[in-house]
Amino acid sequence: MAITGIFSITYATNDLASGIRFHSDLGLQLVQSEQESADFELPDGSRVLLRGLASPDLPPAYGESDCGVREVCWAVDSEASLFKLAGDVARDRELRFNGTTECSFLDDAGLSVRLRVSSLKPIAAEPDPTNAPGRVDRLNQLRRWYERATPQQMQHIVFCAPKPREAARFYVERLGFSISDIQEEGGVFLRAPGNTQHHNLYWQRADEHAFRHVSYGVANVDEIMAGAAFMARQGVTSHLGLGRHRISSTFFYYLPNPCGGDAEYSTDSDCLDEQWQPRVWGRAFGHIWWLAQVRAQEPAPRMRLANAEDLKLA
Ligand SMILES: [Fe+2]
Repeated sequence: MAITGIFSITYATNDLASGIRFHSDLGLQLVQSEQESADFELPDGSRVLLRGLASPDLPPAYGESDCGVREVCWAVDSEASLFKLAGDVARDRELRFNGTTECSFLDDAGLSVRLRVSSLKPIAAEPDPTNAPGRVDRLNQLRRWYERATPQQMQHIVFCAPKPREAARFYVERLGFSISDIQEEGGVFLRAPGNTQHHNLYWQRADEHAFRHVSYGVANVDEIMAGAAFMARQGVTSHLGLGRHRISSTFFYYLPNPCGGDAEYSTDSDCLDEQWQPRVWGRAFGHIWWLAQVRAQEPAPRMRLANAEDLKLA
């Protein structure tokens, strides 16, 4: 099983105060703050770490921008798994141990990666019955009302690179990730071995190396839109609004983050296991199924099962 999900992400920011306000408004709990740092913790125990540019312990920048996510720390299920992964990674790059439960190194795209022995707490979810024509699953019962969103876990993170297949290959061949789907001319969706989310990491094709967004899982669309309305009242609005991807089925709502990239409220992603057969999707067709702001033209349908050649990431 080994890597089970995202344990923490570390942002470098030139505006710590705005970052603290944004993440608090987003629904994350602030557990520590000092002059150059602030730590938020989610209900599954994962953490979002904000660090000022003057902070002494900042990992190296990923890409041109000083700001944005500089490091992803993945939860590993045991010390034995950590040593096994670290032993392999150390074959061709510098790797630093911090005690016996944590190590860090750079991936093939130059992003700082940390592995840490830790358990993400399971999230308890109440039943969420919905009614439809011909189906009554909620009788004499109101929907739960949300006043704002409370993200429960980080579900995935997205970085771009000019060669996303090469960036993804390191995670598949060295860290045990699986390919969930491939976006033509787009990138590669990967999931950690101990996680069933459609993807925990997406490498997207772009001319530059950069952080794109991190997704925060919430219960349902009601919670997304309650969070969106609350954020709008704080002056933070989405450029796309609510939409749903075809790839992964995820409902998404992206919000610009003053620390870099976007924060995404997401819900109802597909969950996969080893029975899943990866697909290759047309870029625009897979990206968006529908969007609150209607697109002028629908892309041509393009989706097929991946073949052995597609899955070779060389
Ligand atoms: Fe996303």
